[in-house]
Amino acid sequence: MSAPAARGPIVTIDGPAAVGKTTVGRMLAESLGYLCLDSGLFYRAVALATVRADGDPDRADDALAAARSLRLRFAADPSGKFAARTFDGDCEISEALVSPEVDRTVSLVSRIPEVRAAMLEPQREALREGGIVALGRDIGTVVCPEADLKVYLDASPDVRAKRRWKERRDAGGEMDIADIRENLLARDRIDSQRSIAPLRAASDAVIISTDACAPTEVVEAIRASMTERGLIHAA
Ligand code: CDP
Repeated sequence: MSAPAARGPIVTIDGPAAVGKTTVGRMLAESLGYLCLDSGLFYRAVALATVRADGDPDRADDALAAARSLRLRFAADPSGKFAARTFDGDCEISEALVSPEVDRTVSLVSRIPEVRAAMLEPQREALREGGIVALGRDIGTVVCPEADLKVYLDASPDVRAKRRWKERRDAGGEMDIADIRENLLARDRIDSQRSIAPLRAASDAVIISTDACAPTEVVEAIRASMTERGLIHAA
């Protein structure tokens, strides 16, 4: 029997809403020449499909039907490195995935065990070859506990609300920062209290508090942990 093909390294970054996973994950992936996959997009797509079908995001049958209807496809950005554009079949849904309505409903569909079960295999498939930075809530604990490095990012609610407000404003949206803060805290509550795959750091995760850190400093800290583990060589 031949040995299984060697895969590239897998780095997971989990943490609460708007902590900076996407910014840090993309910068890190770019510096390593890896792909960056944001698992939140899977759950956001389920929330969007549920709402568009007039379903109830709190009902397992509605959310599961929506999950099964999805023909998700990710396309890279022009640099070819990030799964930056999301399609359902031929229809691009990238912008709709970050609408306030999806922000409000995504944690409801994400706590439904049947939805999580349906999303597990597509995520594992996307990680199969390695050479990837994967972002989410349960990548290091459930989706890929065998990852080579698990990182957990944290920051205070005020800092996270400000980051999300700025991100949405830069993308052309105007939202009240108090509403954003409330949404983040509501999602954190549901994400960390759900019975299946709750948001938490893996026991062997490297925990980084990012309140006072620029993204480049967080990337440097993660690269240092990778060097320590022999995953990359020091520059
Ligand atoms: O960008 P942000 O951190 O605000 O959220 P996201 O990563 O797009 O995730 C949106 C929501 O999807 C989270 O609040 C969770 O409810 C859910 N999610 C999850 O349950 N498991 C994951 N691995 C990723 C996201």
